[in-house]
Amino acid sequence: MTKKLFVKTFGCQMNVYDSARMADIMRTLGYEQTDTPDAADMIIFNTCHIREKASEKIFSELGVFKPLKEARRKEGRDLILVVAGCVVQAESDEFMKRAKFVDIALGPQTYHRLPEMLAKLERKKAKRLIDVEFPAVSKFDSLPETRSNGVSSFLAIQEGCDRFCSYCVVPYTRGAEYSRPLADIVAEARVLAETGTKDLMLLGQNVNAWHGEDENGKESDLSRLVAAVAEIDGIERIRYVTSYPSDFTDDMIAMHRDIPKVMPYLHLPIQSGSDVILKKMNRRYTTADYERVVEKLRAARPDIALSSDFITGFPEETDEDFRQTLDLVRRVTFAQSYSFKYSPRPGTPAAAMKNQIPESVKGERLEELQALLLEQHAAFNMRMLNRETDVLLEADGHRAGTLIGHTPYMQNVVVRAPQSEKGKTVRVKITKTAATTLEGDIVS
Ligand code: SAH
Ligand code: SF4
Ligand code: F3S
Repeated sequence: MTKKLFVKTFGCQMNVYDSARMADIMRTLGYEQTDTPDAADMIIFNTCHIREKASEKIFSELGVFKPLKEARRKEGRDLILVVAGCVVQAESDEFMKRAKFVDIALGPQTYHRLPEMLAKLERKKAKRLIDVEFPAVSKFDSLPETRSNGVSSFLAIQEGCDRFCSYCVVPYTRGAEYSRPLADIVAEARVLAETGTKDLMLLGQNVNAWHGEDENGKESDLSRLVAAVAEIDGIERIRYVTSYPSDFTDDMIAMHRDIPKVMPYLHLPIQSGSDVILKKMNRRYTTADYERVVEKLRAARPDIALSSDFITGFPEETDEDFRQTLDLVRRVTFAQSYSFKYSPRPGTPAAAMKNQIPESVKGERLEELQALLLEQHAAFNMRMLNRETDVLLEADGHRAGTLIGHTPYMQNVVVRAPQSEKGKTVRVKITKTAATTLEGDIVS
């Protein structure tokens, strides 16, 4: 009898990818994924530590599974609770103390050891297990084959980060930067394409700094990798995230012009529009560097849609610094953005800086910034009205008779379309635009 696995994922796309790979591992042990925790034999919680609320939320949500587990025990069955991800890595001791009913705790670089750990539990060699090592041999070398879970898939090409931005936990939770070899990535992309993937998102914490080995053991770069992936039949759309502004080469910019499968969409976080703050963040570019890259990208691909991340209320950020962020947003204009209040993370240099900004000020600045970003987002969507565009139909819509997909600019579109069109790219005329979604009809 197959067992059931329920996975809940928090955080970034890398965590979504890791969750899919943990499901791949568990499939080899006879577990099938389910979308409710009720009937599950195993629950995996894949956690995120990027901001305070992220980890607090996890502790409160985990609490829900304690009674479920106890009820199961009374029935003489077990429910194995696994917690993975960045919270475990960052706070392993604290974590094991606070969540006593968790059976297995794993870091982002050790989840390939899940089968061994399960076996130990089953042989009653241990009551609870934790593994937060950074192994010398990459987990990628021992993961089982993957498969698509729909038309859009993530593929991790690089992991970890050596940049140490002063606010960020990622270098501590994910470890040192590692680029997977080109051949491994292309092999995984082929399997994904063969099992239904059309839209491929290449992932890395610093994805445009990918420098894996090519077939000859020589260091390669992202433009060559993307060109290799673009050769694969079935892959229609290629995107990559997250890029670091000063790691772009001219070849990478040119691929936006030369490779039609590369989507005209790029997430390029700037964080702040003040050079003083960027320096304190240990971001190694200036606003002028950033704008120069944007200019080149727009010269190569004039319709490219840009998105960004912003942090408001970084320590010592003055009103003037913040005003410079607003000015930068007005100059560059973004199709979509993510913005956050600065959150001091334990152990990061910024958390120890003196002039921390009051929550209320962080909040006011965030509100003002988000209003401007939303205005730009809505304006970008508005421009699509009455236009025709390609839409890759990915999933069922909420309303009957509709499917949901994305434009090449990553806008959500609800399309009136029969089920038979699911997974296909269709020409759509946009008939309605709202702040965050578009609606449209297929044109023949
Ligand atoms: N590697 C990516 C970002 C990864 S984290 C990059 O360099 O851009 C995703 C986003 O979370 C960051 O871009 C940043 O805007 C936000 N973030 C990270 N740490 C944060 C913190 N301590 N407080 C608030 N936001 C933070
Ligand atoms: Fe964090 Fe900076 Fe690395 Fe991005 S580049 S993951 S923000 S340390
Ligand atoms: Fe969160 Fe870890 Fe990603 S902290 S944002 S899940 S790398």
